[in-house]
Amino acid sequence: MEKQEALARITELRDVLRENSRRYYVDNAPTMSDFEFDGLMHELERLEAEWPEFESADSPTRRVGSDLQKGFVQRPHRYPMLSLANTYSIAEVEEFAARAEKTLDSGFSYCCELKFDGTAICLTYREGKLYRALTRGDGIKGDDVTANAGRISNIPHQLHGNYPPDFEIRGEVLMPYDAFAKLNKEREDNEEPPFANPRNAASGSLKLLDPEEVARRGLMCTLYHIPAQSGLDFESHDEALTAASSWGLPVSSDRKIVGDIAGIREYIDYWDEERKYLPFATDGIVIKINEMAYQRILGYTAKVPRWAVAYKFKAEQALTPILSIDYQVGRTGAITPVANLSPVQLSGTVVRRATLVNAVQMEMLDIHEGDWVYVEKGGEIIPKITGVEPSRRTAGARRPEFPAVCPDCGTPLVRAEDEAKWFCPNTDGCPMQIKGALLHFVSRRAMDILAGEATVEQFYNLGLAKTPADLYDIPFSSLLSLEGWKEKSARRFLASLEASRNIPFERVLFALGIRFVGETTAREIARHFGDIDTLASATREQLLEVPDVGDVIADSILSFFKAPGHVIEISRLRAHGLQFSLAGRQQTISGALEGKTIVISGTFSISRDGMKALIEEHGGKNSGSVSGKTSFLLAGDNPGPEKLRKCSDLGIPVIDEAAFRAMLPAEGIVKPVDSEPTLF
Ligand code: IVH
Repeated sequence: MEKQEALARITELRDVLRENSRRYYVDNAPTMSDFEFDGLMHELERLEAEWPEFESADSPTRRVGSDLQKGFVQRPHRYPMLSLANTYSIAEVEEFAARAEKTLDSGFSYCCELKFDGTAICLTYREGKLYRALTRGDGIKGDDVTANAGRISNIPHQLHGNYPPDFEIRGEVLMPYDAFAKLNKEREDNEEPPFANPRNAASGSLKLLDPEEVARRGLMCTLYHIPAQSGLDFESHDEALTAASSWGLPVSSDRKIVGDIAGIREYIDYWDEERKYLPFATDGIVIKINEMAYQRILGYTAKVPRWAVAYKFKAEQALTPILSIDYQVGRTGAITPVANLSPVQLSGTVVRRATLVNAVQMEMLDIHEGDWVYVEKGGEIIPKITGVEPSRRTAGARRPEFPAVCPDCGTPLVRAEDEAKWFCPNTDGCPMQIKGALLHFVSRRAMDILAGEATVEQFYNLGLAKTPADLYDIPFSSLLSLEGWKEKSARRFLASLEASRNIPFERVLFALGIRFVGETTAREIARHFGDIDTLASATREQLLEVPDVGDVIADSILSFFKAPGHVIEISRLRAHGLQFSLAGRQQTISGALEGKTIVISGTFSISRDGMKALIEEHGGKNSGSVSGKTSFLLAGDNPGPEKLRKCSDLGIPVIDEAAFRAMLPAEGIVKPVDSEPTLF
């Protein structure tokens, strides 16, 4: 390869890997399989080794993917939080073992463990109490998710036994398969996009802004690493984990100490099969040198320890022919090609259909009619076609033609420049989308109106409802004339409509079905703007101030309120008495801050508006500036220096978020141990 060519490929690989790393760690919606990603990473590693002049400290080969996210306070890791070297080849595991044997004296052993497929977490315990939980972040600093970690059922708030006074332990937060299935069912009922796999669901859930919701998600944690630098006196990794377990920490007992490569192979072979029966996802095994003294000799690269390697399992595949392709119109108008397959057995279930994702993916796979294709599940809900077997293509087979018009309403499809999916733009006229919007509006977590898919179908077909506001106009007599309806069902339906008038603004906002505005975003937006008129007239810049809102959501909100039909719809809903502002609904949770006037400054683990709402919910008063009447300044990260100075002049206490939260009645929530108000 020529020098220029190598540089071009290196640059390209770095870009692709960075982009996919963001999709994986931040959006929790990767577009590439782990196998593809790891393959490109290895190619980049090889090229950088071959062309050292193109090395860069910034390269994805030197940095761990970052999960840092808006809305969380970032804190430095005491010791860098690294990744693992990984391989799909037993030969490379053998090389790892051979190198270890060459470098180390005899008498060392390997600790083989499962590689848990979740999201990494670092817990700090002080005086036996859970003090802090950080995500891996960029390896140097992580997002502070302490409040959320405290709501994961098997993370102890209090240790027992002979624990050290201050230490860190690292591990993985996982979502077991049953919790994953339940969550996705709920999301589908709510018309929210389901998570592709338990890993994405776990990391998305750990980054929720609402610890209550985290508690509901059924996450679990398993711990596998006490950093050797922490000064604790363990001879071996295994001993450290046994001790951690004796303090009440969740440590997997599926690890095994083996003496040689034969033992490693045996462990791999056993778990390659047995892992299918575990209640959570694993994606490989990790082999660690067990003795701390030997770990120290081998040391670390900038990104990974030299004393460990991960052997990753390839996702299971099946090979089967495509019978036909359907083009489905989703509730948002997105067109998804789905292949009907000759039924085939895969990871314990029979697969009959598999997604082809979008037109770009179909082109990339070079799908032809009747092709034999490889299907993978690997945790995804709908199996995915990952490749074609060219040797089985029939001569003269043609490429399927992607439809030019919506299969449901015949409108020509459109595709935005940077999107891979085709859309039916007829949002307010395409039957699939109209019914989808209605179903979303009535769903349990939106307006909770007693109408399911069949009812919405009836209403639509009879011309009774095309928009949510129409639901409130259906006469009682029309309800009674519906097939299968009796007076009782009609009354119950009307009662649920009546009750929906008290549904808070944030849920009404969610119910409107603005593209990309899910429950959490709707809540943040509602709290930020307070009412629909302020929101509708907000500029792009103002929208971007909301923690959850980026370019895509901001654009979607702007275009929603530009459509005259939506403005009319909102005024009709308003006339029906729905809540379009937060005012008058200030809920008081406790009187813990009664009589206190509080000034906030800096950034917190939740949005500033969320923080203000929290103060009011506990009976406190917010004030914008420090004065003699101020009870205390609540300082987040980077508080305003002016405010701090004024507090010190006036002798007003300054407290941090942890101390503030400790003032609130927080059932079961972890109270950090250093919760004494800190005077700056
Ligand atoms: S040890 C310094 N052990 O896999 C090494 N990691 O792909 C610390 N992982 O970042 C990691 N199971 O999030 C270790 N038994 C295990 C693991 C494990 C899963 C994760 C971890 C790591 C990633 C690398």
